[in-house]
Amino acid sequence: MSKIEFLITNNYEEMSQKAADIIIEFLKKKPNAILGLATGSTPIGLYKILIAKNKEKLISFKDVITYNLDEYCGIPKNHEQSYFTYMNKNLFDHIDINKNNTHLPNGEGNPKINSENYEKELNQIKIDIQILGIGSNGHIGFNEPGTDFNMGVHEVDLTENTIKDNARFFENDISKVPKKAITMGIKNILNAETIILIANGKNKANAIKNIMSGTVDKNIPSSALNLHKGKVYVIVDKEAASMI
Ligand code: PGA
Repeated sequence: MSKIEFLITNNYEEMSQKAADIIIEFLKKKPNAILGLATGSTPIGLYKILIAKNKEKLISFKDVITYNLDEYCGIPKNHEQSYFTYMNKNLFDHIDINKNNTHLPNGEGNPKINSENYEKELNQIKIDIQILGIGSNGHIGFNEPGTDFNMGVHEVDLTENTIKDNARFFENDISKVPKKAITMGIKNILNAETIILIANGKNKANAIKNIMSGTVDKNIPSSALNLHKGKVYVIVDKEAASMI
């Protein structure tokens, strides 16, 4: 069973800084680290800090390898809201990473074949640090409530809750939000050596309470973190901790 290290910070900036500190220290020790990366609004502050530290030459991404959690299906790779675009815009374009070392699931073409290919890639490596956000419904990656914890990379139908949450990135128009995605499974996520979950805001409070209650329930995907054998950090702001 995992022993989760739970850190409550004053605000979004502190949450981002705490997560960044762990990654910065690790990169100093292991410059060729394999990082698992997340998208969404939560990690933006963390990525900004990593960019700044890279510019100050305190850390380098020259030998870092990255694997992202998920990607939408049904929109092209170069769509402004694809996770491929997000990663370039919010991190990769601003650091000294070799883009050949950055990996995301392919949301174009056959989702089954693309899932199998990403699974094969992941099975050849071990992620050192996996960064996670969390959905208001407790999803991690795009593993929605009810997902079998033993599943590897797979195609998912996004729930109405997630489509609604993500409409803000698509001009608040639900019809524009992709309805499917490819995601690492919980099995893949739990394979990481260390996991850092970050969350801020009141709408995450219930999801955070559910992790910290220690239950393990497939209707709460994030509760799988309680099964992780390695280190798990859950770093939140005050509002996300408000139901603990
Ligand atoms: P958010 O998404 O960071 O945009 O809130 C988190 C998630 O859905 O995993």
